[in-house]
Amino acid sequence: MVVANTKEQIAEIILSLRQNDNSIGFVPTMGALHKGHLSLITKALSENDVVFVSIFVNPTQFNNQEDLEQYPRTLERDVRLLSTVSKTKIFTYAPSVKDIYAENVSSNKFDFDGLEYEMEGEFRDGHFDGVGTIVKRLFEIVTPDRAYFGEKDFQQLQIIKKLVEKYDLGVDIIGCEIHREPSGLAMSSRNERLTPEQKEEASFIYKTLQTAKRKFGTKSATKVTEWVNKTFANNKILKLEYFVIADVETLKPIKRKSNKKQYRAFVAAYAGDIRLIDNIALN
Ligand code: PAF
Repeated sequence: MVVANTKEQIAEIILSLRQNDNSIGFVPTMGALHKGHLSLITKALSENDVVFVSIFVNPTQFNNQEDLEQYPRTLERDVRLLSTVSKTKIFTYAPSVKDIYAENVSSNKFDFDGLEYEMEGEFRDGHFDGVGTIVKRLFEIVTPDRAYFGEKDFQQLQIIKKLVEKYDLGVDIIGCEIHREPSGLAMSSRNERLTPEQKEEASFIYKTLQTAKRKFGTKSATKVTEWVNKTFANNKILKLEYFVIADVETLKPIKRKSNKKQYRAFVAAYAGDIRLIDNIALN
């Protein structure tokens, strides 16, 4: 399997693929690949001639230096895993920070029409400027026809759709369902850092979301939110950062239920210093 480390190598590969009329799918990742990533890659392979997978822990999207340092880096294992899926149709791009940012490791400033200020934006200062910067650069390097993102980062998915629209990037953005452990825990590279006890308890997040969804059928968003806050307050292992029921288009917290709108419930919670997020469609 080809593993390229520079954008010049990628440009050369893309040129020859395009000369042969190949369609290009793209799955950007930060590595520590798991079944959730593999499901994005399998979907991308079924819809494109070839698939590029980038593996790059992007420093500009971390608002916390320790989180950046602790983020799992498992390139060799990732490459081995990818080659079990396809040796010929997957191309890996694993750049250095220098290849992406040269000497200037900083983000550009983006206006995502307010999507960037809700939820993750409120708690992770500058996060979506970092995501916008890296995804735009990667799209310019890989020039994909389609790119695949998991709904676990639903806010990121909406923001990337906005990025493509605003900058006319000409990439189809495809959102893919959340992949879960048998316990219900949403798959995430960060799960690798959980202790067995934390991992077991973390399934509480999805169970709470499922109950919140049921309650939302008959109760107001305020009542459901109060219930979730109380439920988390009784949990000894998980610390809730936020629970929000929001409109899927604007990501603004719901004011009054309307059956013309679609809503999702979003959670961020800590197990020790490990931050976990999840969400669920409510209607
Ligand atoms: O979702 C992620 O893993 C990252 O935010 C992404 C899209 C690869 C950008 O670094």
